Amino acid sequence: MMTKSVTTSNLAALQMKYFHQFQQRRIHVQHFTFWGELRPQHLKETRVILQHSGMIDPREIQEYLAVGGYSALAKALAEMSPESVIDEVLRAGLRGRGGAGFPTAKKWQFTRNSPGLPRYLVCNGNEGDPGAYMNRLLLETNPHSVIEGMAIAAYAIGAERGLIYCRSEYPSTIQTMETAIEQAYQLGLLGKNILGSDFTYEMDLARGAGAFVCGEEGALMESIMGRRGEPRVRPPFPSIRGLWAKPTNINNVETLANVPHIILHGAEWYAGIGMENCSGTKTFVVIGDVEKPGIIEVAFGTTLREVIYDICGGIKGGKQLKAIQIDGPMGGCLPSAYLDMPISYDSMQAVGSLLGAGGILVLDEDTCMVDLARYFMEFTQGESCGKCNPCRNGTTHMLEILTRICHGQGRLEDLDMLEWIGEYLPQVSFCGMGQAAPEPVLSAMKFFRDEFEAHAVEHVCPVHHCRMPIHAMAAAA
Ligand SMILES: Cc1cc2nc3c(=O)[nH]c(=O)nc-3n(C[C@H](O)[C@H](O)[C@H](O)COP(=O)(O)O)c2cc1C
Ligand code: SF4
Repeated sequence: MMTKSVTTSNLAALQMKYFHQFQQRRIHVQHFTFWGELRPQHLKETRVILQHSGMIDPREIQEYLAVGGYSALAKALAEMSPESVIDEVLRAGLRGRGGAGFPTAKKWQFTRNSPGLPRYLVCNGNEGDPGAYMNRLLLETNPHSVIEGMAIAAYAIGAERGLIYCRSEYPSTIQTMETAIEQAYQLGLLGKNILGSDFTYEMDLARGAGAFVCGEEGALMESIMGRRGEPRVRPPFPSIRGLWAKPTNINNVETLANVPHIILHGAEWYAGIGMENCSGTKTFVVIGDVEKPGIIEVAFGTTLREVIYDICGGIKGGKQLKAIQIDGPMGGCLPSAYLDMPISYDSMQAVGSLLGAGGILVLDEDTCMVDLARYFMEFTQGESCGKCNPCRNGTTHMLEILTRICHGQGRLEDLDMLEWIGEYLPQVSFCGMGQAAPEPVLSAMKFFRDEFEAHAVEHVCPVHHCRMPIHAMAAAA
């Protein structure tokens, strides 16, 4: 490992040297990672942020330099003002990949314009949704792409300090990131006078204890500051009053990994990928009843049919598709009628759902939608931080009702009660978790009402999944 600092003038020579070593290397790097699920790129995929995953060794910064790594940071520092970096990202149309799709450059502008120093730049790598590991894969296969994105974002907003928040259940991610941060410091790509410029960015890693709610930005900041991870009142937003009451910008791992590509190839190039108003690509973890589950990266505008049938090989065992659950415990399910819908933040919102962080659960004809709704409610109820009464008690009550229904003790009025609580929670819960918690239940009830009625009234599970008591089944027969 060399320790001489890299500057904008010697970066290209170093990249060339490492590129030759990289070309001569015979070992395929898939060997270094255990990400068997990262398959070769499918024709219908567009890989931007995953293009080097599985090809470079994430433990060696030289490998990232060999594929042109840190050129975007060098370009930003040497040729662009912070304002022009923000403008480039604005014109590229980058939207936050953490779930809500908020325009990244606008958030950067708010933080940059906030009074108070120091400013902080935080990367949100909590990723607590069951079944999701998009961020984990990226951090473990190409950690420097996220560090480079963070450094550029920090330059744009005028932050001199920051951290990446990783959950402690991801020990290999933590190890990979700590090594990457250390190596970036050794080469002068983090710290004081980065690449020989007058820009300083000090960054560190913060470990989360694994609570789902700590992905919510208020709870995340509380957790970083050593307090109980509970959401904060908003406003003020983190861009005004964040970590230690200073302006703080929080972005998702994937959002930040897109930034070097935008700076290097330009806003027009990036805006040309995907759809108008929703540019670029999105990584998804596709799990459930598909032939080829795993992680994919597609341009916005790709349809759910292309994802499920072309890229992921269709439904396992030739069965029928029943529903697609998007965004796990905070998202809704869609029936097969929506297969040709192009994927974007706006299209999902138009059907009353959220695109979220990137989990797609594919469900075949044998899935019991009532039990699935119960499963997600069990997760949310267990993860509710308990700060506010509606979420704490509302999720508990919904779970009790769903459990009763799945055990053959439901009543028709239970369905009205589920809907009533489900419509009430979004209005009165303190944070996005309680607000979104009823969505898996309400969307399943909207599209599969017959199934809920069969459980609650006839005490029958149409797909024979739920363990109904024998007397209930006999009475229904
Ligand atoms: C309960 C809850 C959990 C969340 N978990 C995450 C998470 O794991 N990662 C993430 O980036 N954003 C998560 N978010 C969204 C963040 O609060 C925040 O909006 C996001 O990190 C902003 O990044 P972006 O602008 O790049 O999307 C969560 C939100 C809620 C309400
Ligand atoms: S909505 Fe739920 S998770 Fe959010 S603050 Fe209230 S109790 Fe905590």
